[in-house]
Amino acid sequence: MSKDFPVVVYGASGYTGRLVMEHLRELGVPFIAAGRNREKIEKSVAMVPGIESARFEIAAVEHTVEALTELLSGRKVVCNTVGPFNRFGREVVEAACNARVHYLDTTGEQHWVAELMRDWDERFKAVDRLIIPSASYMYGVSEIGARFCLETPGVDSLDMTGIAEAVPTVASAQTILDAVRQPSAYLKNRELIRYAGVETCDLTTPSGRVLRASQWGGTSHPIWFSRDGRVRNCKMMVAMWNQELYKKELELERANKVSLQWIPDAALYPMMDAMATSIAPATPPRESRYVHRAIDVCVGSGSTVMVKSTMISNGGYYTTGLVQAYGAMRLCKDRPSVTGFASPCEALDHKQLMGVLESYGYCAIKVERLV
Ligand SMILES: NC(=O)c1ccc[n+]([C@@H]2O[C@H](COP(=O)([O-])OP(=O)(O)OC[C@H]3O[C@@H](n4cnc5c(N)ncnc54)[C@H](OP(=O)(O)O)[C@@H]3O)[C@@H](O)[C@H]2O)c1
Repeated sequence: MSKDFPVVVYGASGYTGRLVMEHLRELGVPFIAAGRNREKIEKSVAMVPGIESARFEIAAVEHTVEALTELLSGRKVVCNTVGPFNRFGREVVEAACNARVHYLDTTGEQHWVAELMRDWDERFKAVDRLIIPSASYMYGVSEIGARFCLETPGVDSLDMTGIAEAVPTVASAQTILDAVRQPSAYLKNRELIRYAGVETCDLTTPSGRVLRASQWGGTSHPIWFSRDGRVRNCKMMVAMWNQELYKKELELERANKVSLQWIPDAALYPMMDAMATSIAPATPPRESRYVHRAIDVCVGSGSTVMVKSTMISNGGYYTTGLVQAYGAMRLCKDRPSVTGFASPCEALDHKQLMGVLESYGYCAIKVERLV
């Protein structure tokens, strides 16, 4: 296989992998479309708009460290979209480190982000490469808002909310349910405090509607900001316009307490996946930017300051495709100023990321000083 293809999209047969390829084509970055099933990848690639002008190759690869290491060797970046990451991510991370390539993924799983920070930061530093989880709508977009708030001296607390209209894909539905069974935490007075269970609260939308929100698995922010000397407190709550989703989380939490927790993973995952089909029975149609919109708000405060960022974005999966492709493009050329574990904004800079999202019409932001 030619070495002229610096980026590997792993999970190219999936909904998100396809959108990563769409944006790589747009940015003119040659790529390898990789996954476990060549026929499915071929079908997926054929659906990428403008694919006739893309430079790409297709690779079917076994999901093992050895096979993935061989595929990644000689490349620069892997965009990993094979989730849930707590189930499938470890082989890819190990292969990326072995092959000395930068690793980006689309996880929204806090426990996975925490594992990467704990186990892989030093190992990626040792090979002078980056490992960047959540290079995706969740939580790359809301991170930008938080980083704008942190530009105000004295801000030490980030109170974040997200409200989204989403089309969960098959793996997203599996991921949402998997996350309920994992421990999650928020940052309080510089300590990660574990949630007792699924916590819910009411959120008011800018138009005054009230939605029930949950911690949605904890989000990536408390993990990222637990390493930031400026940040004392950080918590994010997420509401979906489809209010059935937080109810599913509560149902699953109850089922987990009563019976699921004693079932070994091999038997449990098929049961969980059957539950996930009640949320996403099949791959959904392409998103609509006129329907699938999100609002992310961060109120940054300190003892005598308060600042608020409000972001409106559209097409969470498109946005994810762009964040991945843009990150991959940058890492093919740049010599990053940081290595090891990093958030999307730490690796790519929040203003640069905002600029590229704005230029595609995917996201707008208002930052206002309240006090
Ligand atoms: N944080 C965010 O904002 C955000 C945004 C988008 C996606 N995501 C996450 O990204 C992940 C992928 O989502 P998606 O929308 O692309 O889902 P999807 O359409 O269901 O695709 C899943 C992909 O994973 C592959 N896969 C599944 N099991 C595998 C295994 N055992 N070995 C190798 N490959 C395997 C599938 O391959 P086959 O086609 O061969 O089955 C497919 O390519 C999910 O975890 C989702 O939550 C997060």
